[in-house]
Amino acid sequence: MKIFLDTANLEELKQGAAWGIVDGVTTNPTLIAKEGVAIEEQIRRICAIVDGDISAEVVATEADAMIQEGRGLAKIHQNVVVKLPLTRDGIRACSTLSKDGIRTNVTLCFSAAQALLAAKAGAYIVSPFIGRLDDIGTPGIALIQEIVTIYRNYGYPTQILAASLRSPMHVIDSAKAGAHIGTMPFKVLDMLFQHPLTDRGLEQFLKDYAKAFQPAGVR
Ligand code: E4P
Repeated sequence: MKIFLDTANLEELKQGAAWGIVDGVTTNPTLIAKEGVAIEEQIRRICAIVDGDISAEVVATEADAMIQEGRGLAKIHQNVVVKLPLTRDGIRACSTLSKDGIRTNVTLCFSAAQALLAAKAGAYIVSPFIGRLDDIGTPGIALIQEIVTIYRNYGYPTQILAASLRSPMHVIDSAKAGAHIGTMPFKVLDMLFQHPLTDRGLEQFLKDYAKAFQPAGVR
């Protein structure tokens, strides 16, 4: 499974990129607004840090305006993937942009029926939101499983990006379900490293080594 960071924060992206395990980035209008820099400039900066798919979302809500905005975003950098909401206008824009060879990420997907529409429209990526479904008492992971089954049945090339991941369990369950990509906040990526036995084991290794090789006086 590819790992994407769900942030527009440059410091978090630099740290994740330095680990060599970040395959791409997702942003949304909320995340861009948090950084206080215009989307074109912030996406340009993100593209300079992470070499992978970078999702940039339109804010237009009408299809023709989405298409125009999407074309502009795609021009920022060859790695930009145009993010469109799963509305009637968004799907129309997705069909047009996909036919033009512009890669799209259809976002705010909350049902298998919506995911089917995204695949039919030629989306490069579909983003089902796991955490937000869990928030309303609907198991989000079940949606990933359904979409994986449907896409496999028909060989749709659209990649399934598990979004709105809030915990390491969400990441593991998405990988088990067969999501192609998992996007997560920096905090969740950092949590994937943690295991008390790793810390305890390392401490013991270093203590044993120091005891054996340090001069008697400094023990
Ligand atoms: C992904 O593309 C979305 O922007 C993101 O995962 C939403 O996450 P949230 O539900 O934690 O805001």
